Amino acid sequence: MTTALVTGATAGLGAAFARALAAERRDLILVARDGDRLAATAKELTEKYSVQVEILPADLASDDGCARVEARLADADRPVELLVNNAGIGLRSGFVENSIADEERMLALNVRAVMRLTHAAVRSMLPRGHGDVLNVSSVAGFGPTAPGSTYSATKAWVITFSESVHLTLKHRGVRVIALCPGFVRTEFHQRAEIPTADIPDALWLDADDVVRDALADLRRGRPTSVPSVRYKVLGGIVRYAPRPIFLRVIGRAAKAVGRGRQN
Ligand SMILES: NC(=O)c1ccc[n+]([C@@H]2O[C@H](COP(=O)([O-])OP(=O)(O)OC[C@H]3O[C@@H](n4cnc5c(N)ncnc54)[C@H](OP(=O)(O)O)[C@@H]3O)[C@@H](O)[C@H]2O)c1
Repeated sequence: MTTALVTGATAGLGAAFARALAAERRDLILVARDGDRLAATAKELTEKYSVQVEILPADLASDDGCARVEARLADADRPVELLVNNAGIGLRSGFVENSIADEERMLALNVRAVMRLTHAAVRSMLPRGHGDVLNVSSVAGFGPTAPGSTYSATKAWVITFSESVHLTLKHRGVRVIALCPGFVRTEFHQRAEIPTADIPDALWLDADDVVRDALADLRRGRPTSVPSVRYKVLGGIVRYAPRPIFLRVIGRAAKAVGRGRQN
């Protein structure tokens, strides 16, 4: 049996990854902050899929939390064949309104932890000649948002970083992919207190569907995965539209929202 390590494995997309990988009969290492919830998730997966599940409580926005997960990834006697860097947060308010502490916490989790864990994982995969890393980004990473926080910038970093490492390592047996979903029904928006009432039903994706598409794209050796036809089209427009036109459209929308706030 091979082993996969999933961060943010107790809710939303991370829990869906844990279920899908357990169903493939992979042993698991689950990472999140809430130890009780991790233990409950591990028990459920062990009972349902008869796989071994280790739990590793860690705050990945902290140095110490990253260091503990890095140490587990570097353990050559207990190899990890797949790392899913999934844990991430958003912020409700815009860059200027947010405290710099909140901005730094988001950067630490969405960017620094992804870099540190990928570094530890690929260094131990390369001597074995194989291994996979799946980094969860977002369609928000395809372009700027306004008004918005720096969330989209953290996700743009994940895409460019993953594509770079993918190109560097694909000939050495290690695959790296960035997953770029649209809106997914999880705890993400509720945790950040981001209102969702105005988001049309047609734009919501199911976490299990997103994970199924992402794992299929990883196996195909693709550098990015954009689940669902809807978001392949929408994401493609945002990603490949000429930047000056795109910036003008986003700028107008931001101005309209700003006027609405003043009224
Ligand atoms: N939902 C969407 O619409 C959407 C769209 C595009 C991309 N994404 C991305 O998908 C990923 C997963 O999000 P989700 O929607 O599944 O969110 P979610 O339902 O809120 O789950 C977040 C998970 O991350 C863990 N986590 C949060 N902060 C952590 C920290 N500091 N250290 C370690 N673990 C932490 C949480 O557990 P604890 O609280 O116990 O730590 C939980 O297991 C994120 O990277 C997000 O940016 C989400």
